[in-house]
Amino acid sequence: MGDGPPLGANFMPHANVLLEQTWESLRLRVEDGLLQYLEQDADCPPRLREAMSYSLMAGGKRLRPVLVMLACEACGGDAKDAMPAACAIEMVHSYSLIHDDLPAMDDDDLRRGKPTNHVQFDEATAILAGDALLTLAFEILAADVRPADVAAKCCADLASAAGCRGMVAGQVVDLEGEASGVRTIEHLESIHKRKTGRLLTSSLTLGARIGGANVEMLDSLRFYGQSIGLAFQIADDLLDVTGDVDKMGKQVRKDSGHGKLTYPELLGIEGSRARARALVDQACQRIAPFGERGRRLEALANFTIERDH
Ligand code: IPE
Ligand code: IPE
Ligand code: MG
Ligand code: MG
Ligand code: MG
Repeated sequence: MGDGPPLGANFMPHANVLLEQTWESLRLRVEDGLLQYLEQDADCPPRLREAMSYSLMAGGKRLRPVLVMLACEACGGDAKDAMPAACAIEMVHSYSLIHDDLPAMDDDDLRRGKPTNHVQFDEATAILAGDALLTLAFEILAADVRPADVAAKCCADLASAAGCRGMVAGQVVDLEGEASGVRTIEHLESIHKRKTGRLLTSSLTLGARIGGANVEMLDSLRFYGQSIGLAFQIADDLLDVTGDVDKMGKQVRKDSGHGKLTYPELLGIEGSRARARALVDQACQRIAPFGERGRRLEALANFTIERDH
């Protein structure tokens, strides 16, 4: 993470290599799946499709879809059955980024190494492209996840994670936070858990449900998701301070100018790193019972805080 010491003293190199290979092949499968879903919609107006595709196919780490598939496999399922859910969650994530960048929200001009959607197109198109990605995600879940009772559970899970108790709630409180003057760690944690943690956790629970998880597995993967979800946003706050614009593909050193409540502001750089490390360690401990099947998830938990992008 930036120029500080590496966080992962106990990081296993072989797990790292294993994750990199898996990640790359899953990422390529997700890119394919996303493209197919976009091309399938013949009735979509060309400019809208272009705006949806512009952000959705702009790269990005594809962390959430990879988590969906790894969770599915950790529970004994086949990653290909998780592909519709993986694509759906990446669509919800991409919509959240398009809207997050709007002038009325964070007012950013760079995302995934390219001009933001509203800069490239216009504000109305960006809002509508986000709306369309969000809606398409639920169509895909309802139509393509099988069996039907698992599809229904996945729809409810993702809706709750993305909506007025989840990501949208977190975004509202994040924006209010710029003016509210409440600057406590409890308040900050409740923002981060919702604006980032809920959607990330949903990646795990969707994958687990599709992989046929029992209650214990589902609970463990939920706990893992909550922990790395918070750690991921702490790392994002840290990278805003220590990161590099070219590696990140988005502007850095913008949070403090916006008066955002962030981890580095409240705990300092080292305190934030320590908190992120503790969260990742607790996530890894919780999935230890998965044994070999959980190794890639362990490596991925470490990645969430050791990344530079
Ligand atoms: C950025 O998410 C927004 C946050 C929740 C911090 P990512 O860092 O996963 O962005 P992409 O998908 O790789 O572009
Ligand atoms: C965004 O948090 C969380 C979302 C729900 C998109 P940030 O506003 O910190 O994300 P970046 O730094 O713009 O990617
Ligand atoms: Mg934001
Ligand atoms: Mg932002
Ligand atoms: Mg940020």
